[in-house]
Amino acid sequence: MTATGAPGAPSRAAAPGAPPGRQAGGVSLPDFPWDRLTPHAATARAHPDGIVDLSVGTPVDPTPALAREALAAASDAPGYPQTYGTPALRAAVAAWFARRRGVPDLDPAGVLPTIGSKELVAWLPTLLGLGAGDVVVHPEVAYPTYDVGARLAGATPVAADGTAQLGPLGGPTGRVRLVWLNSPANPTGRVLGVEHLAKVVRWARAAGAVVASDECYAELSWDAGEVPSILDPRVCGGSHEGLLAVYSLSKQSNLAGYRAAFAAGDPLLVRRLLEVRKHAGMMVPAPVQAVLTATLADDAHVAEQRARYAARRAVALDALRGAGFRVDHSEAGLYLWATRDEPCWETVADLAGRGVLVAPGDFYGPRGARHVRVALTASDERIGRLASRL
Ligand SMILES: Cc1ncc(COP(=O)(O)O)c(C=O)c1O
Repeated sequence: MTATGAPGAPSRAAAPGAPPGRQAGGVSLPDFPWDRLTPHAATARAHPDGIVDLSVGTPVDPTPALAREALAAASDAPGYPQTYGTPALRAAVAAWFARRRGVPDLDPAGVLPTIGSKELVAWLPTLLGLGAGDVVVHPEVAYPTYDVGARLAGATPVAADGTAQLGPLGGPTGRVRLVWLNSPANPTGRVLGVEHLAKVVRWARAAGAVVASDECYAELSWDAGEVPSILDPRVCGGSHEGLLAVYSLSKQSNLAGYRAAFAAGDPLLVRRLLEVRKHAGMMVPAPVQAVLTATLADDAHVAEQRARYAARRAVALDALRGAGFRVDHSEAGLYLWATRDEPCWETVADLAGRGVLVAPGDFYGPRGARHVRVALTASDERIGRLASRL
């Protein structure tokens, strides 16, 4: 969310022309969009030299040895794990924020391990007790789970990129209780600077809203320089009140299969979430807590993975630009946000015919309808085929 923007728009699933939602337990959820890509996947797979699948952001490189060793060493785990996380894990998260994220003063009491971060994104509004009449704001072009999480709670999702869209203290359709930020963003790769973040924090504090900042691509900055955290003292004025940073080791450490993630920030907020999570059994397995602790202490494997993505990004960027694409934002993160100034499904169909599968931008909101998202999560060999395919 930035400080300015066009008038507020309802979230995409409620937008005119959006596909009808699915009813699940009385909650209206958007259709699972990936189903619509199935015929294009079949076309791409039929290519004689095989598919170059750049549609999903699932890591393909090996899980680092130190993580596997930590998992093996902690595999004798007969007792229940702590929902709050071990003290060692919470200390490791605080040390990581100080070392890697410019946050010198994170209180380990404000750390909460999560079962991957998608789980928290989907359930945070519910865990905060939000419901009918409450508004959850998320970016206009966004990871779809922010919208889903608001719906699961019975709250109203509102897609807005600017505080100006929401008015001084409230939203267009109710009271704003939670604001999601995502920097670097999926799918656009856009990074929000200190000033933008600070403005959102000031606005949210005045409105009494929680700010949750999904920062899972923070270690993958290319042209953006620094990627400030919401917990950075320059952003939050030295207080973490009302703030949560959401982080995941899925991408930086190839641990998506482990479900290793955490939230950190305001200890009072964490306590509220913890109460519900303890009752609901939302606990990270003990061996995965050990993996988180060990993996967060090591920067070398992250640098190695970063270098792999940097090389793939350079190849994919050249291939796309050479084929007449414009690549917008994409200064950080795992995706290239590309367009030929045509409807995204035309691009998807054309590329599928060449054996390349990408994600249509409208999966992420109507504003993405003329872009496609190209993931860098494929082997060097597959990414290397891109130029000849295009
Ligand atoms: C912006 C964003 N948030 C959260 C997630 C979820 O990551 P995980 O559940 O693997 O931690 C993803 C995954 O792609 C993402 O792109």
